[in-house]
Amino acid sequence: MNLKESANPLESGKKVKPMRTVDVHAEHKYPVIIGPGALSKIPVALDRHDYERALIVHPESVTSIAKTVGQILQDLEIEVSYLIHPDGEAGKTVDVLSTAWDAAGAAHIGRRDVIVGVGGGATTDLAGFVAATWLRGVSVLQVPTTLLGMVDAAVGGKTGINTSYGKNLAGAFHSPIGVVADTDTLATLPDADFNAGMGEVIKCGFIKDPTILDVVEHAGPIKKGDPEVIDLVEKAVRVKANIVGFDLKESGIREVLNYGHTLAHVIEKLEDYKIRHGEAVAIGIVYAAHVAEEMGFCGPQWREQQKSILVKQGLPVSWKTDNFDTLFEVMTSDKKVRSSQVRMVLTCRSSQTNVHTIEPEILRRAALAMGVISA
Ligand SMILES: NC(=O)c1ccc[n+]([C@@H]2O[C@H](COP(=O)([O-])OP(=O)(O)OC[C@H]3O[C@@H](n4cnc5c(N)ncnc54)[C@H](O)[C@@H]3O)[C@@H](O)[C@H]2O)c1
Ligand SMILES: [Zn+2]
Repeated sequence: MNLKESANPLESGKKVKPMRTVDVHAEHKYPVIIGPGALSKIPVALDRHDYERALIVHPESVTSIAKTVGQILQDLEIEVSYLIHPDGEAGKTVDVLSTAWDAAGAAHIGRRDVIVGVGGGATTDLAGFVAATWLRGVSVLQVPTTLLGMVDAAVGGKTGINTSYGKNLAGAFHSPIGVVADTDTLATLPDADFNAGMGEVIKCGFIKDPTILDVVEHAGPIKKGDPEVIDLVEKAVRVKANIVGFDLKESGIREVLNYGHTLAHVIEKLEDYKIRHGEAVAIGIVYAAHVAEEMGFCGPQWREQQKSILVKQGLPVSWKTDNFDTLFEVMTSDKKVRSSQVRMVLTCRSSQTNVHTIEPEILRRAALAMGVISA
């Protein structure tokens, strides 16, 4: 895995805008282009590909961004069709997938054409899976418009939809030809969605890049228009790109990206997915810190440090449920749990991660210490 970064200042009127590119070395190399005005770099992301047609998949909330993308493609003499999908998780269903296949058929999308996902993680997951399955695989260009999409969902090649048995159960690994993360598109994103994305950004700080934590500690709470956002997106993308470059299909190293996700998945399920993913991850990070403490790996200082950064960003750090048995049952029903053994990513200081099998008694004691359950 090699990671190449380059500063590509884009001339825009009088102002030179900071544009960054992080190359991901997956089954093929692709760029993640980050910065204000990055949409104008779509032709660079398409590179030498000579596409004739494109199907742009997007939710209604980003229609004007999708139209801008469409215009850029038309200027390249690409024939453009659009598919508006139901918002959020309602877009990640087999019925919507079927509608999208029909749209690809109606648009005559062939092996040498491209599907373009414009939207949050739900959109990039759906668009990626349509591309992975249509004609056994066509190109996908991802244009994430949420912070979570930019730093997480659109990078790494995991695509999929939900089934009645749970989230993301049907999917495929299908790397994009490029990711264009235009930070200007965040302007219309609700603050709460931006903040939830910061949960994943801060997670990257804990598992790999402490400079992310420095930024939040000194300039936080980070708001979507802040100049630090571009840097933070780049840093978080670099963390993910580095990890998936080593472990494309989630056989080992990639597990560290699940830091904070053990309890997060339980919370999401028990809250019927009404809580935002990044918020659940923030709570899950504090729980992982308690588990690390119960295991004797670290003292309360590291836990408090993590908690204070999350609190500074305005992320939730506590949650309560009725009893441990329900919590444990949901935890062990997770698709990644093997033979009822809960494996968790733990940190004992920034960038020091280890994966451990955790005994139920430790899980219970940590839940008690954090106030997730009562004695
Ligand atoms: N494939 C992966 O590796 C991966 C990783 C993390 C998360 N995910 C998936 O990502 C999804 C969550 O992503 P998300 O938080 O981006 O949710 P989302 O896609 O549902 O977007 C959140 C909301 O913001 C709206 N929106 C998007 N961009 C906007 C903009 N610029 N302005 C105004 N509104 C905008 C959307 O319409 C939606 O209502 C989940 O389905 C999760 O499973 C996938
Ligand atoms: Zn996550």
